[in-house]
Amino acid sequence: MSTPDSTSGENQIKKGLAGAIAGTTSVASVEQGQLLYRGYEIHDLAENATFEDVAHVLLVGHKPSSSELSAFQTELQGMREVPGWIIDVIQRVAPKSHPMDTLRTGISLLSHTDEKTDDISPEDELRKSKKLLACIPTIIGAGQRAIDGKAVVEPDGSLSHAANLLYCMTGDRPSDLMAKVVDVSLILYAEHEFNASTFTGRVIAGTLSDMYSAICGAIGALKGPLHGGANEAAMDMLKEVGTLDNVRPFMDNAFATKRKIMGFGHRVYKNGDHRAPILHAWGRKVAEERPEFKKWFEIGEAVQKIMNDEKGIFPNVDFPCGMAYFALGIPVPQYTPIFVASRITGWCAHVMEQHADNKLIRPLSQYTGEPKRAW
Ligand code: CMC
Repeated sequence: MSTPDSTSGENQIKKGLAGAIAGTTSVASVEQGQLLYRGYEIHDLAENATFEDVAHVLLVGHKPSSSELSAFQTELQGMREVPGWIIDVIQRVAPKSHPMDTLRTGISLLSHTDEKTDDISPEDELRKSKKLLACIPTIIGAGQRAIDGKAVVEPDGSLSHAANLLYCMTGDRPSDLMAKVVDVSLILYAEHEFNASTFTGRVIAGTLSDMYSAICGAIGALKGPLHGGANEAAMDMLKEVGTLDNVRPFMDNAFATKRKIMGFGHRVYKNGDHRAPILHAWGRKVAEERPEFKKWFEIGEAVQKIMNDEKGIFPNVDFPCGMAYFALGIPVPQYTPIFVASRITGWCAHVMEQHADNKLIRPLSQYTGEPKRAW
C-alpha cells in the first residue's frame, strides 16, 4: 500500500495538532483578538462578573439571574466538605509530593465516595462538576496545611470560592483585595477551548469513561511546564534572575543557549495574550500595597520588554500570574493547583459537551518504522 502524501491535502500531518480543528464547541472561542466564554468577552467578565458567575455560565450554560446565582453559591458552599479519610491520605502524601500530584490523588479518591461515578447523564455530570469545584479548595488547603505542619482548616461556607481557597491554605480570611485578585485570576483561567488539558479530558470522555477519570487526566496534562505548570516555572525563573541588574545577562544567556522563557509565547496568541495585562495590573495593585514585592514586577517587566523588543514574543497569562500570586504570598508549587480550582469549570463543561454528542477521538499516525520484515 502506498504511503499517503503527508505534506498536503487532507492527509497533511500537523505536528502537535497545530492549526488542526479537532471538533466543535459552544463553550469558548479563542482568537487572537478576543476570548469568549459562551459569548461573553473576557475583559467584560474580569471587570463585571465574579468567578461564581463565570462558573455558572460555563457549567449550567447561561448567565445566572441574582436568585440563580445565590442558589448556585449556596449549593457550592454546602458541598465543600471532603471525607475525613481522604483528608488523612492527602495529609500523608502532601509533604513529599508536588501539590498537583496530591490534588490528582485527592480527586481520584473522591470518585470512590461517589455512588454514581460511572453515571454520565447530563444531570449527574452537572452534580459531579459542582462537587469537584466545591471540593478542590478543600483538597488544596489540606495539602498545604500538611506541608506547613499545621492543622487542617475547615472550609468556610460563608466565603466566596476565591476567598475560601486562600482561607483553606492559610487559615486567615483574606483581605478584599487579595480575594479580588484571586477571583479575577480564576475568571481568566476558567476556560480556554481545546488546550492540552481540556483536550485530554475530552479524549478520555470520548471513550465514554467517567468525569473523575477525565479530570485526573486533565490535571496530569495541566501540570507540565509548557501548559499550566508555566505559572510556577515563570516565578521560579524570575527568582533565578534575582535582580534587575541580572536581567540583561540572564536574557543574553537564555538567547545564546536557546532556553525557553517561561510564561511567554502561545500556540494561538502569537501577538499577545489579552488575559496577561489584566492580571498584571491586578498583581501590580497588590505590589503597591506590599512594596517588598515591587521588585519582582520590575524584573518581570524588564524581561517582558526584552522579549517583546528582541524576539517579538509576548507574555501569556501565566507570566503575570506568577508575580501576582507571589505578591499574595502563595507558595509557588500551589500556583498550578489554583489554576485547577478554576479550570475545573471549563474541563467539566467540555466533558459534558463531549458526552452530549460523543464520537470516539482516535486520529491516525504516519508510520515511520521498519518496513515489513520476517521474524
Ligand atoms: N521562550 C523563547 N522562545 C520561545 C518561547 C519562549 N517562551 N515560546 C516560543 N518561542 C520560540 C520557539 O523557540 C520557536 O522559535 P523557532 O521558530 O526559532 O524554533 C518559536 O518561538 C515558535 O514557538 P513554538 O514552541 O514552535 O510554538 P508552539 O505554538 O509550539 O508553543 C508554547 C507554544 C506555549 C508551548 C511555547 O511558546 C512555550 O514553550 N512557552 C513557554 C511555556 C509557557 O509559557 N507555557 C504556557 C502556555 S499558555 C497558558 C497555559 O497553557 O497555561
